[in-house]
Amino acid sequence: MTEPRFAAVILAAGEGTRMRSSRPKVLHELAGWPMVRHVIEALRPLDPAVTMVVVGEGMDAVAEAVAPAPTCMQSPPRGTGDAVRSARQTLAPRLEKGDIADVVVLFGDTPLLRAETIRALLDARRRAPAAAIAAAGFRPTDPSPYGRFVLDRDGALERIVEARDAKPEEAAIGLCNGGIMAVDSRLLFALLDRIGNDNAKREYYLTGIVGIARADGLTARVVELPADELVGVNTRAELAQAEAVLQDRLRKRAMDNGATLIAPETVFFSADTRLGRDVVVEPNVFFGPEVTVGDNVQILGFSHLTGANIGDGARVGPFARMRPGAILEQDVHVGNFVEIKATRLGAGAKANHLSYLGDSDIGGGTNIGAGTITCNYDGFNKHRTVIGNNAFIGTNTAFVAPVSIGDGAYIATGSVITSDVPADALSIARARQVDKPGRAAELRERLKQQRKNS
Ligand code: UD1
Ligand code: MG
Repeated sequence: MTEPRFAAVILAAGEGTRMRSSRPKVLHELAGWPMVRHVIEALRPLDPAVTMVVVGEGMDAVAEAVAPAPTCMQSPPRGTGDAVRSARQTLAPRLEKGDIADVVVLFGDTPLLRAETIRALLDARRRAPAAAIAAAGFRPTDPSPYGRFVLDRDGALERIVEARDAKPEEAAIGLCNGGIMAVDSRLLFALLDRIGNDNAKREYYLTGIVGIARADGLTARVVELPADELVGVNTRAELAQAEAVLQDRLRKRAMDNGATLIAPETVFFSADTRLGRDVVVEPNVFFGPEVTVGDNVQILGFSHLTGANIGDGARVGPFARMRPGAILEQDVHVGNFVEIKATRLGAGAKANHLSYLGDSDIGGGTNIGAGTITCNYDGFNKHRTVIGNNAFIGTNTAFVAPVSIGDGAYIATGSVITSDVPADALSIARARQVDKPGRAAELRERLKQQRKNS
């Protein structure tokens, strides 16, 4: 028998007032990804039949961030229950096929959830005899902002009371609503049709379905899940706390996979950073989104990498900046104060000091001298610099792109290169040195006299 499937609905239409932001809350980033993407990625291994996201009016950016997941619009936002209701049109035809057992409701602002945790919730609902609802409970250090779980004598969930509506004895309950709920797909919308908005916020609360189900004699179960996964992000301070939890996980993952982090607490990863084996990361390194690092790479202190691909055996930093499209092939060395953007450095190439290499292609074995700059932008367009294999670029060379340099060419120090250089040529593009014997002493004497006379 194949396992029944589930549909996931992620709520993201709330205004997120407490963030004090003009950006929708779920687009605020954690470990380089918008918050809501973490929820989508946590669902992925569980292979939901549908994952859809409820967005608010004007939240096209949220729809873009979650694509290809379908979205529906809730306008105006009138509570979490109303939000799930707005998913009905999209979901109902899919549910009618009868192969979806549960709808799991998640919040876009609960980004620390792991797949195992969602799995545990589903299993709890389906455990025979199946319950109508399973809700994730947790015990946060500060329960004050959360809905509280009121249990009956048998430990089953009787109702959920929101923080604002809680009587003092209810507010004293430590077991809180983590916001994810698995509901029997045949019952969900019928239960939602019956919730009211008789509460402090005049909203239709999703949590209201628990009391209604119980009144119908149905069961609601609580699954207590890890607190560090269920914290909701409503403020900037909570955003920072969630970031800290995620960073700890990512550091641990990097070390488990065979990387050495000398001072893990000073290294910041993106959720999608991929490190090979025997990578050493020195203190104070930042990985933005889409960085891939091969085996035996050294990333020295104070380097900043985003959208870069670092090949096996490469060495980067200290104080290096890798921007999107930086491709370092095997054994490339990039040293201090070097910025690389949309540039490939072929195997064994070196740029060890003080350079900007943008929109270029640099052949294997080529040595880029200190202070080399690609002048890639004329104020309107970007132009490419192409340098062949085993070339030698003297210190303080400027390449006025578009320009290309043949294999094995040798560029003299201080050159401003404006036209193509053939393979194996020596190119000198600077004014000749002129020495005028005795002229410094004469000049000094003249200036001294001028000062006396003035
Ligand atoms: C909610 C729960 C609370 C729980 C807490 C866990 C309700 C009524 N309350 O409170 O019991 O302890 O989460 O973090 O469910 N949203 C919409 N449309 C709306 C309102 C909200 O899509 O009309 C979305 C928000 O974008 C957010 C999520 O639902 O992603 C939760 O809304 P939020 O306002 O943060 O609810 P909390 O007050 O945190
Ligand atoms: Mg919240």
